Amino acid sequence: MRDGSSLGYRARGWTSGRRPAGEDPFPRVTLLDLARRAVGAAHDAASAPAERAWVRSVLTEAELALWEGQTAYDRSHSVRVARRLERRLEATPHAGDTRWPAAALLHDVGKTTTALSMVERAAATLSRRAVGLARARTWAARPTGLRRRVGLYLTHGEIGAAMIRAAGGRDEVALWAEVHQTHPGGHAAGIPAAVVDALLAADTG
Ligand SMILES: [Fe+2]
Ligand SMILES: [Fe+2]
Repeated sequence: MRDGSSLGYRARGWTSGRRPAGEDPFPRVTLLDLARRAVGAAHDAASAPAERAWVRSVLTEAELALWEGQTAYDRSHSVRVARRLERRLEATPHAGDTRWPAAALLHDVGKTTTALSMVERAAATLSRRAVGLARARTWAARPTGLRRRVGLYLTHGEIGAAMIRAAGGRDEVALWAEVHQTHPGGHAAGIPAAVVDALLAADTG
């Protein structure tokens, strides 16, 4: 199957919407997003002392170790997403709950395993629809090689979730990593709909 249910996502996190066959199985990121992020990466949002202190204040010790293990590019992207999320939630009852910025900071932590260059990431993004989730998982299980790394990249959500759970990170943080690539919006198990929608909007661009 080429939708998220083949990964067991729907049972835990989805409440509505079935993606018609043939649609992009990984709809979240666009090439334009990648291009914008590549430009933005030159300005490292995660290296400022104040941002580092804020990251430390919202992550547990185990989560922080995972966050630190990301590339500078992914750390920078994660801080931008988490700060955008914080602004979106500031006037809501969810403001101040560290689980949500933590989910933003670690949503892409599974990419730590891929070691793809920016060009390879763009190529993987272009190929994702043709590859599909099932084949991507098969590639991710290969012992070595570019196809393994592309497979890991295309399934970075579930890989990140496993990393967070193995490290002892919070349940909601792992769940968001697991479903963020394909979640259609609305409530996810343990994450209110307003927070899901803010997380999705914050990860655009
Ligand atoms: Fe992602
Ligand atoms: Fe992201």
